[in-house]
Amino acid sequence: MKLFLDTADIDEIREGASLGVVDGVTTNPSLIAKTGRTLEEVAREICEIVDGPLSLEVISAEADGMIEEARSLAAIHKNVVVKIPMIREGLKALNVISQEGIRVNVTLIFSPLQALLAAKNGAAYVSPFVGRLDDIATDGMNLVAEIIEVFDAYGFDTEVLVASVRHPMHILQAAQLGADVVTIPLKVLEQMLKHPLTDIGLEKFMADWRKSQG
Ligand code: G3P
Repeated sequence: MKLFLDTADIDEIREGASLGVVDGVTTNPSLIAKTGRTLEEVAREICEIVDGPLSLEVISAEADGMIEEARSLAAIHKNVVVKIPMIREGLKALNVISQEGIRVNVTLIFSPLQALLAAKNGAAYVSPFVGRLDDIATDGMNLVAEIIEVFDAYGFDTEVLVASVRHPMHILQAAQLGADVVTIPLKVLEQMLKHPLTDIGLEKFMADWRKSQG
């Protein structure tokens, strides 16, 4: 399973990358806006820290504008993956740019049929938003299971990139389902690695060692 960081915060990306388990980064307009910097500035800095796929989202709502933006975003760096929302105009734009060799992450996926359409048009990734479904009392991980079932049935190469992850259980369930990627906030990555019994056990080892040293 690939782990991407879901942030545009450079300090968080540096910290996550230092752990050695980060394979890429995803951003969205909200995350970029929080930085107070231009998308290009942030993108170039991220590419210097993490040598893996970096998702940058278009702003345009029309296919022509999305296509123009996608070409510009892809030109920033070889690692850039263009994020396009799963709307009618986004499907039209995907149909064009996926044939130009630009990798596309189709985002804001909330149904397996949306994922199917994106895969048919050559998306490199689909991003089902599990947390936002959980937030409205709908089983977000069930969407991931349905997408994987459909993709496996037809042998689509499109990767399932589980997004809107709220806690480590989302990661475990995604891994058990065989999702290709999860994109997670740094806080959730830190929750992944921590266990209270590990901390308690290490403290006991150190205390016993200190006692033995007088
Ligand atoms: O960046 C895409 C997605 O992971 C954002 O999810 O629900 O935490 O805003 P959310």
